[in-house]
Amino acid sequence: MNYTKNEVLIDVKEVNLTYDKVILRDINFRIQNIVRPGMNQGQVVSLIGRSGIGKTQLFKILAGLVKPNSGTVMVGVDQHPVEAGEVGIVSQNYILFNHRSVHDNLRLAMKHDSLALNDKDKDALIADYAQRFALEEHLKKYPLQLSGGQRQRVSIIQQVLTGNRFILLDEPFSGLDALMIDRVMELLTQVATLHELNTLVIVSHDVENSLAISDTAYILAKEKEKEGATITETLDLIEMGLAWNAGIREDSRFQQLVSQMKHKI
Ligand SMILES: Nc1ncnc2c1ncn2[C@@H]1O[C@H](COP(=O)(O)OP(=O)(O)OP(=O)(O)O)[C@@H](O)[C@H]1O
Ligand SMILES: [Mg+2]
Repeated sequence: MNYTKNEVLIDVKEVNLTYDKVILRDINFRIQNIVRPGMNQGQVVSLIGRSGIGKTQLFKILAGLVKPNSGTVMVGVDQHPVEAGEVGIVSQNYILFNHRSVHDNLRLAMKHDSLALNDKDKDALIADYAQRFALEEHLKKYPLQLSGGQRQRVSIIQQVLTGNRFILLDEPFSGLDALMIDRVMELLTQVATLHELNTLVIVSHDVENSLAISDTAYILAKEKEKEGATITETLDLIEMGLAWNAGIREDSRFQQLVSQMKHKI
């Protein structure tokens, strides 16, 4: 596979979080811009760990919503400290305005759009996304009139429309049936390849789906006789020949890796 890893886009250094007990201990990882000749290749990274391990807390730290007790999160090509609001978040419970239609929620997301599109072009873009993600019949509905899967797709598109290069997703596969998981995978892959610098960070307990879509995965777990969760394993799925392949689930090496990792979280 022909690719290079260039500039650092997200750099997490020595992050610690303690409430009444240690939740996260010495979290370190970085995400580099992956470049593949002749294509827009974004980055898809997952942080995988069992329920209660601290994934949502780490998600909030990466989003700038929770300050760690120590350590830093730097983002962007210029590597500045992350600020709340600058990364897109698709949280465990999707944030949509319930008193506005799907269309208006999406229009609102484009308020600060850097392309300076006029109203007609904005509507055309929304219609285009809606069509691609099977939402065209639902644009006039309100969020509470949608199914969970539809709401999730609106929420992901909303983050794409804000123009955020970084999008964090907390448990994007939970509560979806197999067909819908495939759609979300497709949508995320499309988002990742829309722009070279687009970077998706997924936190999830779902080993199989997370590994299937990622180029890099980090296992978040406890180490023996130590408090708090830390990264216990780094999987470079590109080097393993298991990335960028929609049919990867059928691969026996992939299946082996999934069952191995299930024992490690
Ligand atoms: N504000 C808080 N004060 C004290 N403890 C907290 C606070 N918020 C979260 N915790 C604790 O932090 C730990 C990690 O919680 P977190 O929500 O990050 O888990 P998670 O890995 O996302 O779990 P799940 O997979 O169930 O979503 C839990 O033990 C939780 O009780
Ligand atoms: Mg969580």
